Amino acid sequence: MKERNYAAISKNILSWHSRIDRSLPWKVDRDPYKIWLSEIIMQQTRVEQGTPYYLRFVERFPTVESLAAAPIDEILKAWEGLGYYQRARNLHFTARQVALENNGNFPDTYEGLLALKGVGTYTAAAIASFAYDLPYAVVDGNVIRVLARVAGIDAPVNAPSTVREIQSMADRMLPPAQGADFNQAIMDFGALLCRPKNPHCGDCPIQSHCRAHAMGEVHNIPKKKPKKPKRKRYFHYLIFNLDDQIFIRKRRGNDIWKGLYEFYLIEHEGLLTTEELDKVIPFDFDFHPAAANRIQQLSHQTIECMFLEARIQDDAGLEDYERVDRKQVCKYAFPRALDWYLNDKAVTLNLLF
Ligand code: ADE
Repeated sequence: MKERNYAAISKNILSWHSRIDRSLPWKVDRDPYKIWLSEIIMQQTRVEQGTPYYLRFVERFPTVESLAAAPIDEILKAWEGLGYYQRARNLHFTARQVALENNGNFPDTYEGLLALKGVGTYTAAAIASFAYDLPYAVVDGNVIRVLARVAGIDAPVNAPSTVREIQSMADRMLPPAQGADFNQAIMDFGALLCRPKNPHCGDCPIQSHCRAHAMGEVHNIPKKKPKKPKRKRYFHYLIFNLDDQIFIRKRRGNDIWKGLYEFYLIEHEGLLTTEELDKVIPFDFDFHPAAANRIQQLSHQTIECMFLEARIQDDAGLEDYERVDRKQVCKYAFPRALDWYLNDKAVTLNLLF
């Protein structure tokens, strides 16, 4: 593509943006803390899903110091349901670093931002441009789609070389004096007009620059490399109840759910029946007959969870677990499937058992 087209494309996207109204709560603020918070929450998350979380977080933790001072359990509880919990742990780590080592001031250079835990090239460019007006181009899923279509890129867009090519296009397209406006405009353009399905090509102000349109390939671009099949896992959760107290435990180990709570867990390579579970578990208990199953899709694995409630007579074999009053259980942060169980299915917690 010739150099001059970049200027024409960015001008048309900016002009389109000045005619639309997409209000998002974090757009009104140039506070780097709030911009950072919104961008971490919105990673791998749809704006509609993430917005209520953002609003709750800024209300509860209005400054980086307040977030740094909160216990990690409180942050994980507020994060519950958003998934990718490493983001919440990094959020806490970085808030503490900024509050304790940097007097509450976020770095004001791209490189300084990039050095923060949990901040990659996209988030560093977003904070640098939105908070400090620095000329760094964001490349998120929206920008990848728009520019892959403009350039008619046939190669998979999740290949590192394609991401580099798209980053270089975005860098050249960004008008240096309007970094923040352009970044916001191209993301909104991707979200509202150059959409994954049903793009509004008829209203597109850069249609004459779009190779995918010229080739009749808009619906086939961007292409992705096929993903590896997901690993399947089977978790059997036993909710042990002794005198109306429930046994829970914080997950250790370095996995996706580290720091969240769970019930007694048996993992097996397939689903077990209650009789088989009875044989595997080395102490006596009485099952409640109602079992519930739920499938949780994660990015690289599918987890089928089975939940069973059981009364026990003593805590032998459960020494590693915390005992919490059944009415207090919902105050702890659990993975999404367990939260579903507690809110929608739990039997003993409603005292029916
Ligand atoms: N997703 C994440 N950040 C965004 C922003 N600033 N504008 C639009 N969509 C976004």
